Amino acid sequence: MAETKKTQSELIKEGVETSEAQIAVHWQEEGYYPPNAQFIAQANMTDPKVYERFSLKNFPNCFKEYADMLDWYEYWHTILDTSDAPCFKWFVGGKINASYNCIDRHLAKNKNKTAIHFVPEPETERVDHITYQEMYVRVNEMAALLQSLGLKAGDRVTLHLPMVAELPITMLACARLGVIHSEVFGGFSGKACADRIVDSGSHVLITMDAYYRAGKLLDHKEKADIAVAEAKKGDQVVDKVLVWQRYPGKYSSSTPLVKGRDFIVNDELKKFYGKRIDPVPMPAEAPLFLMYTSGTTGKPKGAQHSTGGYLAYVTGTSKFIQDIHPEDVYWCMADIGWITGHSYIVYGPLSLCASSVIFEGVPTYPDAGRAWRIAQDLAVNIFHTAPTTIRGLRKVGPDEPKKYDFNFKHMTTVGEPIEPEVWKWYYHEVGKGEAAIVDTWWQTENGGFLCSTIPALKPMKPGSAGPGVPGIHPIIFDEDGNEVKAGANKAGNICIQNPWPGQFQTIWGDRDRFVKVYFERYCKDKNSKDWRDWPYLTGDAAMQANDGYYRILGRIDDVINVSGHRLGTKELESAALVVNEVAESAVVPVSDEIKGKVPDLYVSLKPGFLPSPELAKKISNALVTEIGPIAKPSHVWIVSDMPKTRSGKIMRRVLAAISNNKQDVGDVMTLANPEIVTEIMQLVQGPKKDSDYVG
Ligand code: WTA
Repeated sequence: MAETKKTQSELIKEGVETSEAQIAVHWQEEGYYPPNAQFIAQANMTDPKVYERFSLKNFPNCFKEYADMLDWYEYWHTILDTSDAPCFKWFVGGKINASYNCIDRHLAKNKNKTAIHFVPEPETERVDHITYQEMYVRVNEMAALLQSLGLKAGDRVTLHLPMVAELPITMLACARLGVIHSEVFGGFSGKACADRIVDSGSHVLITMDAYYRAGKLLDHKEKADIAVAEAKKGDQVVDKVLVWQRYPGKYSSSTPLVKGRDFIVNDELKKFYGKRIDPVPMPAEAPLFLMYTSGTTGKPKGAQHSTGGYLAYVTGTSKFIQDIHPEDVYWCMADIGWITGHSYIVYGPLSLCASSVIFEGVPTYPDAGRAWRIAQDLAVNIFHTAPTTIRGLRKVGPDEPKKYDFNFKHMTTVGEPIEPEVWKWYYHEVGKGEAAIVDTWWQTENGGFLCSTIPALKPMKPGSAGPGVPGIHPIIFDEDGNEVKAGANKAGNICIQNPWPGQFQTIWGDRDRFVKVYFERYCKDKNSKDWRDWPYLTGDAAMQANDGYYRILGRIDDVINVSGHRLGTKELESAALVVNEVAESAVVPVSDEIKGKVPDLYVSLKPGFLPSPELAKKISNALVTEIGPIAKPSHVWIVSDMPKTRSGKIMRRVLAAISNNKQDVGDVMTLANPEIVTEIMQLVQGPKKDSDYVG
């Protein structure tokens, strides 16, 4: 070799090589966007001392501030009990009811205020504005019905409900009795529902006959029959199926009711007219609900969330980070079947007496203006959604927001890293240059936000979540457990140093897995009862800039190692979006004899653009320009759509199987658009055509 070999440390200094323990970061720093004066003037949290109040020095007592936002039957005596570490208990000794805090306590002053605006998908149907008083009545009657079935505190009930007002009504009816609800995303199959019924040991399933999605009234009850049959195979007998009617008084499913097992909720409720059920004072650490999330192995994990700690945490963060005031109209587009909907459509906002919008349908159906008409008609001023939806809205109607008269003071992005290009469209077009944006990074397991800016206190930085929110103290470790410092321009495994009230208590029924997956990695002493010995492993790769802002690069598993360089898939994908024609992008690793792995790039285009070898070349070049030759994709595949989960996340696993020439792409049961798989397979694995581009 003509070239003289450089030492590892010289290479690191030059920034051209990184050790295996760290991920190279090539992303450019983005500029700051300050919140506007009008926003600051009305904001809930404008005191910079909040960070000091919630510093590690003041941990855990700082969280009293959140607990005090709630009404307690009995005040707690111990703020944090670590005796069963890492299963931490918050606000021990306290007695509380979540249903009471989300409804009853608002009645004296606000019974006539809208709690939920239910927006049906068909625009011919009227929006239902449900007041706090009506919530009170409906939740009480539903609780009476549940109680009549013998359900009591600690029992589990599985809900398989779509985005309708009956979902939070059912959740709060369970919470009123201390019954643990486990809502399964409505888009999931009967089989997926069954797995969760078995794991949680539910005897009762609550569902709906039908709901609207993209113009079709879908038969939903048929999934309940599958769920019950499949659960039985797993030795879990469901003896009651409660079916809400999408149109009260009319049964909208073609699936017959099973005698003695299936009951129409709307009919049954008539027996409980006028019933009031006293909320059950629950220990703060009693589980409020389970939320299943997929792990790397097949079996879903039931994240068990507490009553007092969880509710305190989502209330505090809804106030400080979401900036929710009772007079706001707040619309979070997530599905309540995910944690975002539990925390930031139902529990956080209702605890603060907000008016929360629930939209049944697809935001781009029947046309690209649908979401913005809802915003205009209801005068929504806080808007909350995910990058996948933002990209979708940008794809179908980049100029659409301008055509409507709505003004958001605040917007949220959540669920995956947002590419700066997409962030800027969100800021300028949706936020009209005025809304404060928070990029909230967190997980099902966490209950509420981990990193985000406090909107009136910190400037926004596209693509970066921000620092830890008050009371959350992240730390980045390399593979050897050494801290990767701010400004090192290196990424590593982001962990949280301390417990917090919103953190899940355990994996339902599997404490060992809980400890193994989330704590074992960096725990120094497994017998320790000191929280300092139990950093929580999030499983995400991240880096911290000099300003203390964290940038999330995605799951650790999503990292691609090209010739010893670990590249975050997200930064490659972000670079592709710099090309104007590109709407979405996904990068997957393909095995390569020489380089180990090389990135394959999939893109979909905005409407009006057609695939061509020139365009593919331009996109490939963009990666080289933005990141470097190391990032040059082996192929650029221009596809009509990406395989996506029902929550909108791109299924890279499927694309990776296709790119690696596998015939079996694995389980596609949870895909929203399974038909796209065949199309992409033909493109990638079929005979090559002239129009294909080989990078
Ligand atoms: C990713 C959703 C970057 C991350 C609340 C995390 C994000 C996983 C962000 C959890 C964000 C979530 N920026 N990445 N703002 N928010 N993620 O359990 O990889 O559905 O670990 O919870 O989504 O997804 P989950």
